[in-house]
Amino acid sequence: MEISITKTTCPGTLPEASTLGFGKVFTDHMFIMEYNAEKGWHDAKIVPFQKIALHPASTVLHYGSEIFEGLKAYRTLEGNVQLFRPMENIRRMNRSAERMCLPQIPEDMFLEALVKFIDFEKDWVPSATGTSLYIRPFMFGNDETLGVHSVKNATFVIITSPVGSYYKEGINPVRIMIEDEDVRAVRGGTGEAKCGGNYAASNRAGERAEKKGYSQVLWLDGVHRKYIEEVGAMNVMFKINGEVVTPMLAGSILPGITRKSILELLRKEGYKVSERLISIEELAKALEEGTLEEAWGCGTAAVVSPIGELCYKDKKYVINNGKIGKLTQHLYDTLTGIQWGRVEDQFGWVYKI
Ligand code: PLP
Ligand code: COI
Repeated sequence: MEISITKTTCPGTLPEASTLGFGKVFTDHMFIMEYNAEKGWHDAKIVPFQKIALHPASTVLHYGSEIFEGLKAYRTLEGNVQLFRPMENIRRMNRSAERMCLPQIPEDMFLEALVKFIDFEKDWVPSATGTSLYIRPFMFGNDETLGVHSVKNATFVIITSPVGSYYKEGINPVRIMIEDEDVRAVRGGTGEAKCGGNYAASNRAGERAEKKGYSQVLWLDGVHRKYIEEVGAMNVMFKINGEVVTPMLAGSILPGITRKSILELLRKEGYKVSERLISIEELAKALEEGTLEEAWGCGTAAVVSPIGELCYKDKKYVINNGKIGKLTQHLYDTLTGIQWGRVEDQFGWVYKI
């Protein structure tokens, strides 16, 4: 694939690691390419990071035709740059595209664009412990008409942002509120697609939780309002009576790549793991009886994030005395070890740039 390159004339500098936070600073360039029904994907270019001009009738502005992905580039101790399971993100983005009637991107084209762009921006991959370059590919429908239909024009962009930890707590346990009013998704809806609208619709509950001092909400299923689904930006797992349980993938939660990797890791290490329905009653009982030993969220941005407190209908449940559990710490160490190249990758997950 041909990618034209225009270099910035005013390069920025990588900020000091302790000031990074999440998604506030962007690198010098972005990748962009266009789609239309006649030409397919075309006009691929790397250009200076800039605003995107849109027609006021552009589909995305009215009907929310937008999907995105999130992955990271990690700098190893030797100074090399590597990705974590990028094909998983590429395939998930195409599944989201299918759900939202946006065009597919051929896998080899997507990978080539991603690798060439990250290679081009690799000086922006930070090296301090716990920092990485967050990669945000996204696609939006860009027809210049107000009719509601699947789109004939789309734009695909990759932007990158050097990041530290997603939560201000870092690896310290977060407090999560179980949402009993709003719902995030139902089967047959868009819950398993990574589309912008899912996040827009979840902001109201997130804001209510934040006002009460919680980091995010834990969603219950949209039909019975009874079964645990996932947290705002991560999947969720519990260790109950020695067994790791996590909600099964039934169409309404995001099939997280971190979730999948942790399950593969746990199974390889011989842990008892089950993907199934987990009701709020089961969780409350386990919390009351003290059999809920650990809880954590997992995601690209959030990595492995211990949950120290859950709140449901104003009742507060502290987990593991509000401290990170042994297994949570082990998962964090192993996963980040593989991602940053400090632990041998026995799974073939790492993709070297
Ligand atoms: N669930 C939601 C709603 C998310 O936004 C994310 C983050 O991408 C995840 C789960 C975790 O997915 P992954 O591990 O692929 O980043
Ligand atoms: C990610 O972990 O990559 C995500 O997309 C979460 C995001 C909503 C911050």
